[in-house]
Amino acid sequence: MQLSKKPFFFLWNERGKLYFCIFQNTTIMKSVTIKDKEFGIFIESKEIERSIEQVSQKINADLKDQNPIFVAILNGAFMFAAELMKRVSIPCEITFVRLASYRGTSSTENVKEVLGLNESIEGRTIVIVEDIVDTGNTMAALLKQFEAMNPKEIRIASLLFKPEALKKDIKLDYVALEIPSDFIVGYGLDYDGYGRNLNDIYKLKS
Ligand code: IMP
Ligand code: MG
Repeated sequence: MQLSKKPFFFLWNERGKLYFCIFQNTTIMKSVTIKDKEFGIFIESKEIERSIEQVSQKINADLKDQNPIFVAILNGAFMFAAELMKRVSIPCEITFVRLASYRGTSSTENVKEVLGLNESIEGRTIVIVEDIVDTGNTMAALLKQFEAMNPKEIRIASLLFKPEALKKDIKLDYVALEIPSDFIVGYGLDYDGYGRNLNDIYKLKS
């Protein structure tokens, strides 16, 4: 990762040679290289967490008597799920399922099955916790599978949403951040398996 700082104080000697320079303690550019691609800072963790806080407050108010079960979709949603659940204060359960649907930088129609749901969701209010809704293909497939298990109600909480890329008729109940259709990494989202551990969100440089 590169951090560039803006110089704000210079001193020259009598021959005009720079001999002193203090750097302002402000980051003006942050970027990260993952494999063959360069990404620039897009959304800082403070802003992400502020948005998650707002989503959690809505969930706490809406679902306070529902005893919901949160179903987080691995791998992408692990960081969002952790930050969200730290702020959800109503009685609830959380569980994690896995599916894979994405390769490289473009979404595919090829969505795999939900794996690892051991709890019964019949008659329950479930909240799907997802990292991002892009075309909506993954979410549509998830909804179909969860609906077949006869829950009382399904709600969707997504950290990110790309409204311009949406191709399915899906209603998202809780969205922390709406973004344009750029490819991003960080905060759980990956490029070819890397970048999930970044604390901020970065956008692919064109
Ligand atoms: P969808 O099926 O097109 O809505 O894509 C959903 C899945 O694709 C998400 O759960 C992510 O795993 C992945 N995805 C979509 N956009 C991005 C992105 O910008 N960066 C990383 N992964 C993404
Ligand atoms: Mg995902």
